[in-house]
Amino acid sequence: MSRLDSFIRRLEAQRACLERAVAMVEGLDGPILELGLGNGRTYDHLRQLCPAREIFVFDRQVAAHPDCIPDADHLLLGDIRETLPQAVARFGRTIALVHSDMGTGDAVGNARVAKYIAGLLPKLVLPGGVVISDQPQPLDAEALDLPEGLSPGRYFIYRMT
Ligand SMILES: C[S@@+](CC[C@H](N)C(=O)[O-])C[C@H]1O[C@@H](n2cnc3c(N)ncnc32)[C@H](O)[C@@H]1O
Repeated sequence: MSRLDSFIRRLEAQRACLERAVAMVEGLDGPILELGLGNGRTYDHLRQLCPAREIFVFDRQVAAHPDCIPDADHLLLGDIRETLPQAVARFGRTIALVHSDMGTGDAVGNARVAKYIAGLLPKLVLPGGVVISDQPQPLDAEALDLPEGLSPGRYFIYRMT
């Protein structure tokens, strides 16, 4: 598979998982956390899927398309190891959905960040809430199959217990 094919499949998996996750939490009140603003693609998709929900977005910097930058109250800037503990204090266990898309080219660093995030998510995500991630998360949660047609390991979906 070419790198272009792989990139396209990753984005297709991401979109399908975002849409699956939003459908899964339809009956669950609570905000969404988007970990990794990047250029704002998935944030933009989430806000179109969920116009009535608050979405809080995390990144260490803003490098997004100007149309895809949240307002200051919904943008938590800084290293996730500082901002996620602040989110625990601010939100407590009220979050319906987390999308974690923090991956960089550094596989070891990605696993370390995923482990850190997984340690805090049980303090944030409601029972029955959903976590989707570009990285496997060592979460004490139910790991779910991906939507039909997606290869296992392309993305990860968990339901919190
Ligand atoms: C793959 S990009 C996100 C792409 C985005 N979801 C989109 O669709 O455009 C990963 C983002 O995570 C951010 N990031 C990586 N490690 C981080 C950390 N430790 N703290 C805060 N942000 C981090 C990077 O700055 C980058 O913008």
